[in-house]
Amino acid sequence: QTRRITAPEIRARKGGEPIVCLTAYDAPMARLLDPHCDLLLVGDSVGMVVHGLDSTIGVTLDMMILHGQAVMRGAKRALVTVDMPFGSYEKSPQQAFENAARILSETGCQAIKIESGTYAAETIDFMAQRSIPVMGHIGLRPQAALADGGFKAKGRTRAERQKVIDEAMATADAGAFAIVVEGVAEDLALEITQRVPVPTIGIGASAACDGQVLVTQDMLGVFEWTPKFVKRYDNQAERTTAAVQRYAEEVRDRSFPATAQVYTMTRQDG
Ligand code: KIV
Ligand code: NA
Repeated sequence: QTRRITAPEIRARKGGEPIVCLTAYDAPMARLLDPHCDLLLVGDSVGMVVHGLDSTIGVTLDMMILHGQAVMRGAKRALVTVDMPFGSYEKSPQQAFENAARILSETGCQAIKIESGTYAAETIDFMAQRSIPVMGHIGLRPQAALADGGFKAKGRTRAERQKVIDEAMATADAGAFAIVVEGVAEDLALEITQRVPVPTIGIGASAACDGQVLVTQDMLGVFEWTPKFVKRYDNQAERTTAAVQRYAEEVRDRSFPATAQVYTMTRQDG
């Protein structure tokens, strides 16, 4: 059995070869991604990407644990980090620790991630002191969409820029081993990456970061939507539509199943 990449190993990659990260929500996809990725993130984006929710607000701890278990069955080598969903960690460091411990023990994953406004520093410190590897997530924080009025890039005003830098410093000082930086301009991503001692993993945050993450279904083109920061490496929506159209036609004209897909008679009666 191959050894899994550890949180300290990811931490030690600061300033080195870029860290390759994608989201995963199920076992077969995790198996395909694992050989190419350093880190697989069981993101709460699963609520939108797989369950059809409009935001990540409705994602539950049980959903995250179920998807975390599936990803752990498929991934052999990458570090698996599971997102803590909205409502499972904000109330107190104790609440966060209890729910993080459930995620770690019930999935076998090696780390958790929380969206880390500056208020979260106490929580990150509490968990890190108690041996839970924590990833932070700053800048555009999808779980803050209600208060922010939607998904909006961050750091466009001087005050907002300082706020994102404060989030980064607080998250790193509190003991996070890596930080997702989402939806910020290149100069801000560069400043944060230069100032924090842990790797920054960017999404919509330029190549200045120490690594990159994308939602796998976005980069595979499963959806028609393409925010600016997504590069489509495939067009699975079109290819799936074409395949299903062909299948439907062949069922209707009875060319599927053909002899190649039909069992031959193995037994004569009488
Ligand atoms: O939920 C998610 O997929 C994420 C990443 C995109 C960073 O948090
Ligand atoms: Na997330």
